[in-house]
Amino acid sequence: MPPSLPNFSLSTRLLLLALIIVFLVTFHLHRSPKPSSLNTLIPHHLGGTGGGGATADPCRLFLSFSATANSSISSHLRALTREPHLAGTPSAAAAADYVRTHLELAGLESLTRNYSVLLSYPAAASLSLLLNGTLVKTLSLAEPADPTARAVAPYHSYSPSGAAVALVVYANLGRDEDYLVLDRLSVDVRGCVVLVRRGGGPRGTIVEAAAARGAVVVLMFGNGVGGGVERGTVLLGGPGDPLTPGWAANASAERFRFADAEVRKRFPKIPSMPVSTVTAVEILGAIGGPPAPLEWKAEMSAVVGVGGGSTMVNFTYQEDRKLAEIQNIITIIKGCEEPDRYVILGNHRDAWTYGAVDPNSGTAVLLDVASRFGALLRSGWRPKRTIILCSWDAEEFGMIGSTEWVEQNLENLGSKAVVYLNLDCAVQGPGFFPGASPQLDKLLIEIMKQVTDPDSEGITVYHTWVAKNGGVNKIERLSRADSDFTAFLHHAGVPATDIYFGEDYPFYHTTLDTYEWMEKHGDPSFLRHVATSEIWGLLGLRLADDRILPFDYNSYASQLLEHTNALTALLDGLKIKPIFASIRQFTAAAKAVQDEAKMFEVQGVADVASCLRRRAFNDKLILAERSFLDAEGLRGRPWFKHLLYSPPKDSASKLSFFPGIADAIYDAKNSIKGEESNIDHEIWRVARAIRRAADVLRGELT
Ligand SMILES: *[C@@H]1O[C@H](CO)[C@@H](O)[C@H](O)[C@H]1NC(C)=O
Ligand SMILES: *[C@@H]1O[C@H](CO)[C@@H](O)[C@H](O)[C@H]1NC(C)=O
Ligand SMILES: *[C@@H]1O[C@H](CO)[C@@H](O)[C@H](O)[C@H]1NC(C)=O
Ligand SMILES: *[C@@H]1O[C@H](CO)[C@@H](O)[C@H](O)[C@H]1NC(C)=O
Ligand SMILES: *[C@@H]1O[C@H](CO)[C@@H](O)[C@H](O)[C@H]1NC(C)=O
Repeated sequence: MPPSLPNFSLSTRLLLLALIIVFLVTFHLHRSPKPSSLNTLIPHHLGGTGGGGATADPCRLFLSFSATANSSISSHLRALTREPHLAGTPSAAAAADYVRTHLELAGLESLTRNYSVLLSYPAAASLSLLLNGTLVKTLSLAEPADPTARAVAPYHSYSPSGAAVALVVYANLGRDEDYLVLDRLSVDVRGCVVLVRRGGGPRGTIVEAAAARGAVVVLMFGNGVGGGVERGTVLLGGPGDPLTPGWAANASAERFRFADAEVRKRFPKIPSMPVSTVTAVEILGAIGGPPAPLEWKAEMSAVVGVGGGSTMVNFTYQEDRKLAEIQNIITIIKGCEEPDRYVILGNHRDAWTYGAVDPNSGTAVLLDVASRFGALLRSGWRPKRTIILCSWDAEEFGMIGSTEWVEQNLENLGSKAVVYLNLDCAVQGPGFFPGASPQLDKLLIEIMKQVTDPDSEGITVYHTWVAKNGGVNKIERLSRADSDFTAFLHHAGVPATDIYFGEDYPFYHTTLDTYEWMEKHGDPSFLRHVATSEIWGLLGLRLADDRILPFDYNSYASQLLEHTNALTALLDGLKIKPIFASIRQFTAAAKAVQDEAKMFEVQGVADVASCLRRRAFNDKLILAERSFLDAEGLRGRPWFKHLLYSPPKDSASKLSFFPGIADAIYDAKNSIKGEESNIDHEIWRVARAIRRAADVLRGELT
């Protein structure tokens, strides 16, 4: 009991508390500086969402800093991308220092959280063409676009060392259907080097598929515009440090050994290497054999053979695999009402090369958002809930920094995290591409309506986006496991967003991902960066400050119905009945919850009992997503626990939801485990998960 409140009755104490709060609020309002310039697109109703501090409307104030943001963002991006900064290398430490320094300049304290994780670099590699056993030509494994070789040589991290002198077969994209075509041409890949074009799925999966057919090496080309070569990871079986699967890789942690089965299954069994289009075309020009189908020709000038004749390559690769120290930088802005509720914004910092798009367009935005939050704090604002800004390391190797942090904090995040808002390749061109867990759709759209389209004056991001999609709201669901939201959503069940401008930029993971490209082509006036900062920052502010969390489970319900209807195209409708039944429960619970949310709007804010009621209500909204987790996880991939949104193991799967069902359908089709009953079991698992979420939203024991 506080000493200032001796022996008063409960109601007197509550009255006193209310008076103190009213006094503080009035006092602060008087001191609050007026924002200097207001964004005219902001509707009035935002005025009530202010945080616990002095600023009447933090959203308006946040947006008022946009006027000069493009120049500071561009200078951050220039500084961050002067040198390549691959995780675990000295230049990565310089990028970390830059971020720490600028967080400090923004007035924010940061913590550095290091992990020692297994990373993989190239030590030596060679490739040559042999005809009838004699050397014809040495082929280059360098990146034509990088004559200075300042960046790491093209390679696949976690590819094992190996060597082979073998015939070459061209397998198009390296998918199942491509190998069926080779079968029809009577071309066998056993004992061969397989050459594939990028685009058939995750690298590691493509390499494993070739290994399963007896290939001994995989060479990959594609994305060769301008002489670039795409680096990348071939880590298998989910994200995170291979030596500490499921727990944090801090310095004194338990570590599996390389030889352990758990570790070995994370790496492909055969080596692989990305090659330039120039090198690929030289090989294709020499391999002969039956002509490839016309559609395999891609960007090559002539139809080529699929090989299997007398041309061989000699390939050698030496991997340098070692424990390296990585650094996550974490900034915590403590909430003044609910410090134990976390709104987390994150972006990775490590890059394969210079990283202007991937990921430092996001890092430049992170620093801009940090400086705006710093200014808000100086104006007297405090977020109601805690805001955490994260700059992750070693994402490129397999989301390692974020995964280790989530694994270390799993229980705290499970009970306290409200949302995870991700940025990665934040800006790569025009056009906005939002991805989100469905309960965040409504908020995302509301905010898109408040932000000016960086490419068309006078209209909003929302306007352009809807027009482009023919009037349909197309928000991606985050089932892919290729950025830092993975551990939060797929493992911890924290709802997430991932947003970006532009798509399919041609220099992904090449040394052409530079500041110069961004300045000339990606975002010439850096206004797309500013719009990203606005959308991301407003998402963070609303989720930290709205008294009732701006989650809408009605849109989750209709999304689930849509998914399940799509399932009827693949499965007997009768089979799916349990899911439909659960969705009916979920829909009713969602509707009741949204009605309840409206009631809170008309209630007062200052009495303790209503604060607690609101907190209990918000907790239902937070915890409903956790219901979709299953402790056992997906079959054979137990780290992935989210039964609605996790990646299906077949990357060509048409289902980007219900991954357990997608896997069971795949297994039945390929008679891997043969049993139809797996499908039924997976259907029931999804049905139970949706039912659990309905129970959480209802908030009553059954
Ligand atoms: C974190 O790692 C970096 C780079 O290895 C090192 O310079 C720094 O001292 C480490 N910090 C802590 C707190 O261990
Ligand atoms: C390779 O060997 C084949 C037959 O074994 C022969 O026909 C061909 O001329 C040889 N090519 C070269 C370049 O030696
Ligand atoms: C590493 O983890 C262990 C076990 O969770 C813990 O006891 C130890 O304090 C941690 N060390 C650091 C530096 O975080
Ligand atoms: C293959 O290349 C390696 C590395 O250059 C070389 O040591 C080896 O002798 C070559 N093998 C053949 C059969 O040419
Ligand atoms: C910032 O935007 C303005 C137009 O609003 C433009 O004139 C200026 O060149 C931009 N600055 C940078 C660094 O791109």
